[in-house]
Amino acid sequence: MAAKPTTRRPLSTSSSFSCFVPFLCLVFLLLLALFFSAARPSVVSRYDDLLGEPTRDKNRWPCNYSDGAWVLDPDPVALRYDHTCKEIFKGWNCIASGKHNGRDLLRWRWQPSRCGLPRLEPLRFLRRFRNTNIGFVGDSLNRNMYVSLVCMLRSVSRGVRKWRPAGADRGFTFLDYNLTVAYHRTNLLVRYGRWSASDNGGALESLGIKQGYRVDVDVPEHTWAEAPSFHHILIFNTGHWWWAPSKFDPEQSPMLFFEKGLPVLPPVTPEIGIDLALKHMISYVERRAAKGSRTFFRTQSPRHFEGGDWNQGGSCRRREPLLSHEVEELFSVERNATNAEVRVINQHLYKALQRSSFQVLDITRMSEFRADAHPSTMGRKKHEDCMHWCLPGLTDTWNDVLMAALEDSTS
Ligand SMILES: *[C@@H]1O[C@H](CO)[C@@H](O)[C@H](O)[C@H]1NC(C)=O
Ligand SMILES: *[C@@H]1O[C@H](CO)[C@@H](O)[C@H](O)[C@H]1NC(C)=O
Ligand SMILES: *[C@@H]1O[C@H](CO)[C@@H](O)[C@H](O)[C@H]1NC(C)=O
Repeated sequence: MAAKPTTRRPLSTSSSFSCFVPFLCLVFLLLLALFFSAARPSVVSRYDDLLGEPTRDKNRWPCNYSDGAWVLDPDPVALRYDHTCKEIFKGWNCIASGKHNGRDLLRWRWQPSRCGLPRLEPLRFLRRFRNTNIGFVGDSLNRNMYVSLVCMLRSVSRGVRKWRPAGADRGFTFLDYNLTVAYHRTNLLVRYGRWSASDNGGALESLGIKQGYRVDVDVPEHTWAEAPSFHHILIFNTGHWWWAPSKFDPEQSPMLFFEKGLPVLPPVTPEIGIDLALKHMISYVERRAAKGSRTFFRTQSPRHFEGGDWNQGGSCRRREPLLSHEVEELFSVERNATNAEVRVINQHLYKALQRSSFQVLDITRMSEFRADAHPSTMGRKKHEDCMHWCLPGLTDTWNDVLMAALEDSTS
């Protein structure tokens, strides 16, 4: 089961040998060609027949899209959208801001070990999901994925209407297809707000707590509370905000968890709080989601701070994806690595999602390699942005995985 994601680029086929015996040379070249066609399965489109059964190799199914390697495509692929897409947040537009590798990012292709990952074809997607509502619910990393999908679709279908019911952050309806794609912003999934001690006293006050954030683990934030009954396809995420000391400082402004309107006593840490919140929100969605709808939970997106954390001058100036051993150095939980958070969060997610009706959208492993794909100094922030992703970029591949997951179990 060991992954072998060490391939950073395909082997060079330098042909600087000379052919003394033309026949032997021909045989050699034929063998070489055979070897490469076997070693790199072509990405056969499984959507050749839109309405028919996708072609499947029984031995290779279901495909584990998380197990693979990034390969440098010798032939540049056609962009599905570019830096002119208006939805791209300025700090993520690495081509427009002139990031040195802004365009090179797109030459890396994720190659699963045992199958191909088809590219999401925008026009096919629009036809396939006619009369469908798709909602991304989560933090700015889910917005990053939402923008990627909207840009892909807008590049082939310009007739859109803004969609923004109460609470939703942003969205578009593609008029020719009656397809709505929306983003619902929520950091913790659950409702939270400032809390300060009252004069009348109470359980938290008696513990000497003066202020913090009240986090109601069983109440969905209003931005998405109606989303499960509206959308047919939902993609959730939450993660790094649970460990965001800049907001939820354990001393100055701790998270204070409430359940059924009462403080959880004795007070619990965010590690317990996230488990409670996930449990309640998963069951909330399961109760509300319309019959036949598809619910996905996206795994945690990794950060790539090197030489210090985000507030200690950490940076992400790599020009190429990491090698396997470099990935371990950055993310190892055992070694308390700077970016280990991603794997810790995933442990919480997987535990909560077991036995739920959610399908896990695992994008973590493939993303851990992509230290080169963040806005870095182009992020227009005081600190380098080694958390969000350049667009166009990695989250385009997340959407490929979403598309593949949708196809896998609908046919
Ligand atoms: C898929 O591959 C990843 C990476 O090698 C591995 O961690 C995971 O356990 C695999 N999942 C399954 C269901 O085999
Ligand atoms: C558009 O799609 C919605 C479902 O999302 C459906 O209820 C509605 O009838 C559709 N409208 C048309 C004109 O087909
Ligand atoms: C892990 O590293 C952080 C700083 O990066 C430090 O505050 C913490 O105490 C370390 N934890 C352990 C268990 O070593």
